[in-house]
Amino acid sequence: MTQLVETVREDVDKTSQQIDKVLAGHKMFTVRPLKRSFICGAPMAGVTDKPFRMICRKFGNETLFTEMIGVNSLYRRAASTCRMIRIADEQNIVVQLVGIDETALVYAAKEAVFNGAIGVDINMGCPVKKLITNGSGASLMKNVETAVRLVSAVKEKIDVPVTVKTRLGWDEKQKDVVSFAKKLVDAGADGITIHARTKEQGYSGQADWKALQALKQAVDSPVFVNGDITDKQSLQSALNISQADGAMIGRGMLGRPWILHQLAGTSTQQNITGKVLADLVCEHLEMMLSYYGKAGLFAMRKHLAWYAKGYVGHAEFCRKMFDMNDEKAVCCLVKAFFDNAEKQGE
Ligand SMILES: Cc1cc2nc3c(=O)[nH]c(=O)nc-3n(C[C@H](O)[C@H](O)[C@H](O)COP(=O)(O)O)c2cc1C
Repeated sequence: MTQLVETVREDVDKTSQQIDKVLAGHKMFTVRPLKRSFICGAPMAGVTDKPFRMICRKFGNETLFTEMIGVNSLYRRAASTCRMIRIADEQNIVVQLVGIDETALVYAAKEAVFNGAIGVDINMGCPVKKLITNGSGASLMKNVETAVRLVSAVKEKIDVPVTVKTRLGWDEKQKDVVSFAKKLVDAGADGITIHARTKEQGYSGQADWKALQALKQAVDSPVFVNGDITDKQSLQSALNISQADGAMIGRGMLGRPWILHQLAGTSTQQNITGKVLADLVCEHLEMMLSYYGKAGLFAMRKHLAWYAKGYVGHAEFCRKMFDMNDEKAVCCLVKAFFDNAEKQGE
């Protein structure tokens, strides 16, 4: 086993050296700064995978973040993780990485750039226990030295913007995002996105957009506001109150892959209902099946429930759909439901 790991490592090192060579000689990898005042789609594990991003792309070209990609499993060349970073056929993608192993992180960042990422984001805000235990995600807010070292190590090796996504702080007592972010910017971070809650809050309470004002005044780099932005009104309020340079939309996109582009004012379509929605949902299902095989049907269930939310008969649709194991039957159910679906309360 040890020998196998060593052999893989050697292969990884060789690939890494190849990437170095390509990067050194390739004009494509000049800095393409993230534009100010931009609106982007948040990284969401289990959601913003390739099929979901392809569906979002049907409505426009705004920046989308990948799911967080674990750098250790990428370094070990775990097949399911390697697939997550294959973005060469996409545009305007920022790859989000999670992990604290500097070698693996730098390696992953180079691979992201090699595949065409317009930016690399380091996750320093995820509160999931597994990440906290191994010192990554939100833990990095408590380990500033490592956070700074990781940013500068990645920054030194790649020529696209390096950003960090974090939170307001660990808890109510340690809301120290201003000093944390300042250090990250000094280390080379080109932008900071703040989910305007603390790690302890998880997803509870309201996002505190106002808390970003102090940060905005303290750093020159772009600051992006995230948390509870779901429509035009909340987007305007979040931008006005936080004074941020841009905004990131997460859960607002669930079941509404068009919302990002509608909010950015660049959507190619406005009313997505009836047959258009039925076709879109079926296409999403087909993409999930071709990307994940049979597992795609089960991974699609949550998306189907989100798509159906707010329509008359949502609960009945979900009950039937969760009982089905045959993709053709699910597609028929989807068509029948969305073709004639009426919004609740209309
Ligand atoms: C299902 C789900 C998965 C998430 N996965 C990630 C992730 O991989 N990386 C990350 O930085 N944040 C992740 N988040 C947090 C979101 O990016 C975002 O910060 C949070 O949902 C708040 O923004 P919102 O109110 O617009 O959803 C996830 C959130 C959800 C709901």
